[in-house]
Amino acid sequence: MSIIKDPTLAKSGKSKIKWVKNHMPVLAKVSKESIERQIFHGLKIGMSIHLEAKTAQLALTLRKAGAKVFATGCNPLSTQDDIAAALVDEGIGIFAINGIDDRGYHEHIYQVLKNRPNLIIDDGGDLLQTYISLNPNEKFPLIGGCEETTTGIHRLRELESSNHLPCPMMNINDANCKHLFDNHHGTGQSSLTEIMKMTNIEIAGKTFVVGGYGNCGSGIAKRARGMGAIVVVTEVDPVKALRANMDGFQVLPMKDAAPLGDFFVTATGAPNIIRKTHFKQMKNGAFLANAGHFIVEINLDDLKSIAKHHASLRPNIDTFFLENGKKLHLLAEGRLVNLANGDGHPADIMDMSFALQFLGLKYIVEHPELTAKLYDIPHKLDNLVAHAKLESLGLRIDN
Ligand SMILES: NC(=O)c1ccc[n+]([C@@H]2O[C@H](COP(=O)([O-])OP(=O)(O)OC[C@H]3O[C@@H](n4cnc5c(N)ncnc54)[C@H](O)[C@@H]3O)[C@@H](O)[C@H]2O)c1
Repeated sequence: MSIIKDPTLAKSGKSKIKWVKNHMPVLAKVSKESIERQIFHGLKIGMSIHLEAKTAQLALTLRKAGAKVFATGCNPLSTQDDIAAALVDEGIGIFAINGIDDRGYHEHIYQVLKNRPNLIIDDGGDLLQTYISLNPNEKFPLIGGCEETTTGIHRLRELESSNHLPCPMMNINDANCKHLFDNHHGTGQSSLTEIMKMTNIEIAGKTFVVGGYGNCGSGIAKRARGMGAIVVVTEVDPVKALRANMDGFQVLPMKDAAPLGDFFVTATGAPNIIRKTHFKQMKNGAFLANAGHFIVEINLDDLKSIAKHHASLRPNIDTFFLENGKKLHLLAEGRLVNLANGDGHPADIMDMSFALQFLGLKYIVEHPELTAKLYDIPHKLDNLVAHAKLESLGLRIDN
């Protein structure tokens, strides 16, 4: 079953959506005039996103502005079935269910594309990648789209440099009102929240090893310190490593950090950050989590290869019993820890990201001259979102 029609689930999903709507004044403000003008009238929008209450609110806002919307998840664990059911009830085309296997996940993306969207909203790049791989007889013209996350932007840059980008794409991730808040504060807060919920273990006094000190990693490191953890950062970029050092964190290579950590969290966007040699040195009972987009940062093949067996002793935790007699606990299968069965980032943070998504699609529709390139969000739109956010907080600034 991929399209969930269930009145009880839909009721629960609708009350979650109503709650976040009250905390998303920026999206409401920047979309108001577009809704009046029905800016997306006659257009179909395909979305591949973490299907939860805030993205549901974005889908409903796009629909209010005239679009027909089709959506699927961008991670098999982050889809919330009650939200999917609520959206089905609202008439949004939904192809998603929590915990779907890999084949089903890709089939759902394909189903969104079978509806021939004119515009897309992508998170991680799987929707556009699937569009590119369609057979010529399945292809249709795409006007353009928005990409939400760092990993997706890396993939778009590769497509752009090899001349394989099929349409203009707006780079939402690198807008200031996105990465400075969503990646940094949002990932920081929601990763710590979910790690605490999943493990029910005290953070204070524990050693937290954070892989990567970019937008996300620095947010996680600061939140962990705020909770009383001793934080160690690993990096490959000398400038980021210096920043971590001057922000007061210990900086070590992973091989030296591995024996120290009680908790490990990766947020690099790169594969193989924690691998066999590290697992072997870790303390008995260490927790492993990933906050980067794909399930590649903790090498699961390596972990399995040195484990005698593994078992799930608590929801969302797989415990690996190693040949050396130690146990390691893997959270959320090594997928985005903050989104696996959680609510993800705070609503008032995603409000800014989704206001940018909305404005990004509007910009594409209003600028038919754009070509198949990756475009930054114009500074003016970034500032529009910042002003709307300040206003919602009752804050004023000088001219
Ligand atoms: N969990 C979430 O909700 C969420 C939110 C936003 C972004 N993301 C994802 O998190 C990842 C990181 O995003 P970001 O915005 O922080 O990117 P970023 O580019 O700002 O930071 C990544 C950092 O990792 C470092 N790095 C790369 N390889 C490394 C290695 N082998 N060891 C140690 N450090 C290494 C880089 O030098 C860089 O400083 C991406 O996959 C992104 O898509 C997740």
